[in-house]
Amino acid sequence: MDEEAFGSLTAAADPAMIVVTTAAEGERAGCLVGFHAQSSISAAHYCLWLSKANHTYRVGLRATHFAIHFPTAEDLDLAKRFGTLSGQDEDKFSGFEISVDESGVPLLEACPHRMLVERLTLLDDGGDHVCITTTVLSASSPGRFEPLRLSDVVHLRAGHAAEERAIQP
Ligand SMILES: Cc1cc2nc3c(=O)[nH]c(=O)nc-3n(C[C@H](O)[C@H](O)[C@H](O)COP(=O)(O)O)c2cc1C
Repeated sequence: MDEEAFGSLTAAADPAMIVVTTAAEGERAGCLVGFHAQSSISAAHYCLWLSKANHTYRVGLRATHFAIHFPTAEDLDLAKRFGTLSGQDEDKFSGFEISVDESGVPLLEACPHRMLVERLTLLDDGGDHVCITTTVLSASSPGRFEPLRLSDVVHLRAGHAAEERAIQP
């Protein structure tokens, strides 16, 4: 497999970035995510992929609901915080205005373009990320916006390398 070509093709898509947040048993988590996509129109379904290395993945395994925030091109600092730090070491939410939805998921008030989703399935196909398929419960987007794209954040160093694991087998 030509890894350079694979990298060029995936970078060419230049996806909008999202910040996924969730909570389980009183623990909140969230991280910057580039792997995500709509997967059904009616019913509205959305998929996201979480790295097995991430604190957000470990909390997400126990969670039923997630918020999918679409940061704007102005939100680089927020993306940097959620994409380079880990909730296993510090509270990434501190300093941000947060509200909590009825399922307990923390919502970033700085990112009003967002969806609330409920998990349908979790697929581990043996890769370093797991797919979470969801049904969209609500969506809000107050006006047009310029999304923060992969090309805006590709220089950031992720909080975890994809091959990291909290517990070594
Ligand atoms: C450009 C970029 C894209 C990323 N895409 C994803 C992704 O699709 N899924 C994911 O789980 N993590 C992704 N990450 C990594 C996490 O955001 C990062 O490791 C974060 O620090 C994990 O935080 P946590 O341990 O609190 O969950 C990406 C990071 C960057 C910089």
